[in-house]
Amino acid sequence: MFKREVYLQRRLQLRNSLNSGLVLILGNSESPYNYPSNTYPFRQDSNFLYFFGIDHPGFAGVLDLDEGQDLIFGDDVDMDDIIWMGPQPSVSEQAYNVGVEHTHAFSALSEYLKKAIAKGRKIHFTPPSRGENKLMLESLTGIKASELKASASVELIKAIVKLRNIKDANEIAHLDEIQKVGYLMHTTAMRLASEGAHEQMIAAAVEHVALQHGGQVSFPVILSKRGETLHNHYHNNILTNGDLLLVDCGFESPLHYATDNTRTFAIGGTFSTKQKEIYEIVLAANNAVTAAVKPGLFYKEMHILAARTITKGLKHLGLMKGDIDEAVAAGAHALFMPHGLGHMMGLDVHDMEDMGENYVGYGDELERSTQFGTAYLRLARKLQPGFVLTNEPGIYFIPALIDQWHSQSLHSDFINYDKLKDYRDFGGIRLEDDLLITEHGGRMLGNQRIPVTAEELKAIVGKGF
Ligand code: GLY
Ligand code: MN
Ligand code: MN
Repeated sequence: MFKREVYLQRRLQLRNSLNSGLVLILGNSESPYNYPSNTYPFRQDSNFLYFFGIDHPGFAGVLDLDEGQDLIFGDDVDMDDIIWMGPQPSVSEQAYNVGVEHTHAFSALSEYLKKAIAKGRKIHFTPPSRGENKLMLESLTGIKASELKASASVELIKAIVKLRNIKDANEIAHLDEIQKVGYLMHTTAMRLASEGAHEQMIAAAVEHVALQHGGQVSFPVILSKRGETLHNHYHNNILTNGDLLLVDCGFESPLHYATDNTRTFAIGGTFSTKQKEIYEIVLAANNAVTAAVKPGLFYKEMHILAARTITKGLKHLGLMKGDIDEAVAAGAHALFMPHGLGHMMGLDVHDMEDMGENYVGYGDELERSTQFGTAYLRLARKLQPGFVLTNEPGIYFIPALIDQWHSQSLHSDFINYDKLKDYRDFGGIRLEDDLLITEHGGRMLGNQRIPVTAEELKAIVGKGF
């Protein structure tokens, strides 16, 4: 947890950007895995963590915008709880640590909100993503669960996005620090990746590093020799020399901030000529973005820069043809990179996606493209100092997609389908780094880039500990 002043300041900023009514921020409750006392690991709601900091189930926070009061609703533990969970700090102690004086039992929340609703006061809330909170919010507000998303406060969503999109010095220091664990997760995978290794053994070792450092993985580990499946969670292949292995994983820290990196390397440590040619194009796209980012540029321009770098490289190899800018404008590159360049990152690996990707990544300045590929770009908006985001270009050879496009002769002015036949079994390569936008440019988080050049990979892949 950060110091209490951090939470006081965050709530003050939120209060100052809203007009009137009540802001209701529900924490998460325990969620049953198969029966009520066997739960999924508890994960607090990210907005509750951001504004109220308490990392326990069964809390709600309220900002009364008209009275200028912050309140926490939650229950002190009873003897039964102490027997099963051990002694716990009181609600008022926990509230004090985040600068809140007014606390009430959780059961008082319903009456409190009923009174406010009866007086016609606006209740601001964000769209709940968990089933338990949908039901809770339905019972607290009288709005049907199916209508909560449409009834969420756009004013509140925009105010929260504005705050959380800019990481403060405490958050940046923490994000820099936890990259050490992300680094270790990736280098562990590299060291263990050798001829005969089982993907799931490496995936387990990667997760072990996260657990060992008091956190967990920030999303289910993606680790596969079939990297062309973008989010491949199948880990049952045995690796053989020459296979590419794509590893996309990150750490969720004890404070619940995320890292998210991807590396792709060859088992045996050395890329074949064909692999290296594609690898160097992806690396050039990634490096070009890191070198170019700065406040004032739209991240959509960086997506286009990566697409242009990829198209240029593939044209050089004879896989694409024609004018590079025209190919990118037409969306021909999306056969090879059918996803966006990146997303915001923070308390969630795709930060604030629960509140609506367009609010986070587009704002009021930009319309989302409807073109295949660019439509999946999660972050397009104008960059500002303090943004933390991912830079994750890739080149994939997806046989089903190639066949579909080929059968329609799609973008045949720009794609050499004959030459593509030699790449059907290639797989996929993605390289992902986490960037902080600074006053004049951008930099990678952490003090050491995860091995990325062909030489760095050769020195570590399959080498053990
Ligand atoms: N969580 C996978 C990615 O966005 O990179
Ligand atoms: Mn990732
Ligand atoms: Mn990512």
